[in-house]
Amino acid sequence: MTKTIRVNLDQRSYDIVIGANKINYLNDFLAQNNYSKIFVITDKNVANFHLQTLNNNLDKSCITYETIITESGEQTKSFASLQNICEEILSKNADRKSLIIAFGGGVIGDLSGFIASILLRGIDFIQIPTTLLSSVDSSVGGKTAINSISGKNLIGSFYQPKLVICDLNFLKTLPQRELRSGYAEVVKYGLIEDREFFDFLVQNYQKIFALDEEILTAIIAKSCQSKANIVGQDEKENGIRALLNFGHTFGHTFETETNYSDEILHGEAVAIGMLMAAKMSQNLSLITEADYQEIKNHLQNCGFVIDISKIRKNWNHENLTKHLYKDKKTEGGKLTFILLEKIGQAFVKKGVDLEEFKKVLNEFC
Ligand SMILES: NC(=O)c1ccc[n+]([C@@H]2O[C@H](COP(=O)([O-])OP(=O)(O)OC[C@H]3O[C@@H](n4cnc5c(N)ncnc54)[C@H](O)[C@@H]3O)[C@@H](O)[C@H]2O)c1
Repeated sequence: MTKTIRVNLDQRSYDIVIGANKINYLNDFLAQNNYSKIFVITDKNVANFHLQTLNNNLDKSCITYETIITESGEQTKSFASLQNICEEILSKNADRKSLIIAFGGGVIGDLSGFIASILLRGIDFIQIPTTLLSSVDSSVGGKTAINSISGKNLIGSFYQPKLVICDLNFLKTLPQRELRSGYAEVVKYGLIEDREFFDFLVQNYQKIFALDEEILTAIIAKSCQSKANIVGQDEKENGIRALLNFGHTFGHTFETETNYSDEILHGEAVAIGMLMAAKMSQNLSLITEADYQEIKNHLQNCGFVIDISKIRKNWNHENLTKHLYKDKKTEGGKLTFILLEKIGQAFVKKGVDLEEFKKVLNEFC
């Protein structure tokens, strides 16, 4: 079973190919393009499990390739890695017909995409995501970045890949915690724009966590389609793309407070953040208590830690509020949040009082 989703962005349009054993699409792509050399960027974990598979495919093409293996983890999205990798690629005679393959999760995708966008003023790159999060979110849409001392993802570009291949086989080695973290972004698409999809997830989440190929292909395709539609309308986030940040404003405050460590993974923070946004929506009489409970039940059934005091006993509310202001643009001291009108319909709510944020914070931690 193969699903192909097209991201429509005029000259920068590309396909996302999804299914089990789809890595061979790489060879079709390489045969149709005239690349001089390939640079694979990956991390240690992915290399350990899957580099051989990728190499077996690259060996079938007549193009020479080099592999750059980084440390795993968020700290790799740094200036130091950027510099080292750029220098290494240049020292190995890259030219404007070179191709970068980002082979890994969101960290590798964001870093490699950024490198591709600036190296020799921009060379082609493709994404081969190996986490659920990167399959449904970070590989699609062209946001690339590294982190700065001043904050996460603050140095980057909009730069679209030429192709995305989501081969489900790579997900088989992903730890359950990482799988669940990525699943939060899948739930997000249901909550922001498709009630039926949310219901489908409630019915099928156990099959997803058991890596059922058909269901997994369907939900990745649906998630990519949702993101592709939104990005197709608003590539550079001047409007509707902001809806994709549902749950992220709250989530970022916890991620910042824990210094983007393993204490709370991105998707775990997003899951709690979505629930907090739902609570704010309920407090503002936008959704009902029953809607809120439905979302909470699903996230809990999936194994997300909803009681955030289990992650850390005493959260510093003052710090969390500071992080909120760093993350958010304010207008006249008022805040903007992505909230729910109902399950399956999010909107941008401007002019929210800080007190509303504090109220939700007090209810959760
Ligand atoms: N560009 C965007 O639009 C966008 C969107 C969302 C998130 N992001 C970024 O994505 C990053 C998070 O991505 P992530 O959750 O994929 O994290 P990640 O890339 O750090 O991967 C998570 C962990 O899983 C390991 N791993 C990856 N694939 C594996 C596999 N198949 N088997 C076993 N282990 C594997 C990695 O080595 C790492 O330890 C963050 O930096 C975030 O800012 C970007």
